[in-house]
Amino acid sequence: MRNLNAKKLDKKIKIIEDYNSSAKIYDNRYKIIQNYKFKLIIESLVFKSGIYLDAGSGTNLFLDYLNKERIKRNIRLIGLDISFNMLKIAKEKQKNSYLILGDIENLPFKSNLFAGFISITSFQNLPDIRKGIEEVNRVFKRSGLLAITILKKSFNLNEIKKLFQPHFQDLNYIYDNKCEDWIIFKNIKDD
Ligand SMILES: C[S@@+](CC[C@H](N)C(=O)[O-])C[C@H]1O[C@@H](n2cnc3c(N)ncnc32)[C@H](O)[C@@H]1O
Repeated sequence: MRNLNAKKLDKKIKIIEDYNSSAKIYDNRYKIIQNYKFKLIIESLVFKSGIYLDAGSGTNLFLDYLNKERIKRNIRLIGLDISFNMLKIAKEKQKNSYLILGDIENLPFKSNLFAGFISITSFQNLPDIRKGIEEVNRVFKRSGLLAITILKKSFNLNEIKKLFQPHFQDLNYIYDNKCEDWIIFKNIKDD
């Protein structure tokens, strides 16, 4: 057990170091790829007003995209990331953004807080993805919007369904051959 926990911690530290050292070049290398995922998400989801969490928000590319496309609709987006350097770049670009240094596996929020939970290309980094899914389940409102993308090279679709479906009802998937991620989503339910 102790060995397993030590391995998970090692993986997390390695992830933090990797993103801290690649933060400066991240946008140049990944902006176009990530924008394609954002476009697919925006086309499939209905964004209503409320507080949304962007978990693993990196350099704020998703917020950049929302601003560029003028998709505001009274969404207050809070970014959370485990890499300080990624957040630093995000803050330099968007001085007014709400950013938190934190861990998806231990979210520093009370339950049922968020109207929307977004996480793009971050969950495959988690040493314990089940813990991350439990945290999503805890912090986001039952009737809320969910959009999580995960690298296809890390999990196959059956594995994704087995992980997520026991926790969430009404899940949908975007099937797009050009996208390197699986996209799992759930639209807001009208009360
Ligand atoms: C591939 S980047 C994606 C960033 C952003 N979502 C985007 O679309 O550009 C993955 C991000 O997840 C963050 N991350 C990895 N593990 C995390 C964890 N346990 N908690 C919070 N963020 C994490 C990394 O620091 C990195 O910024």
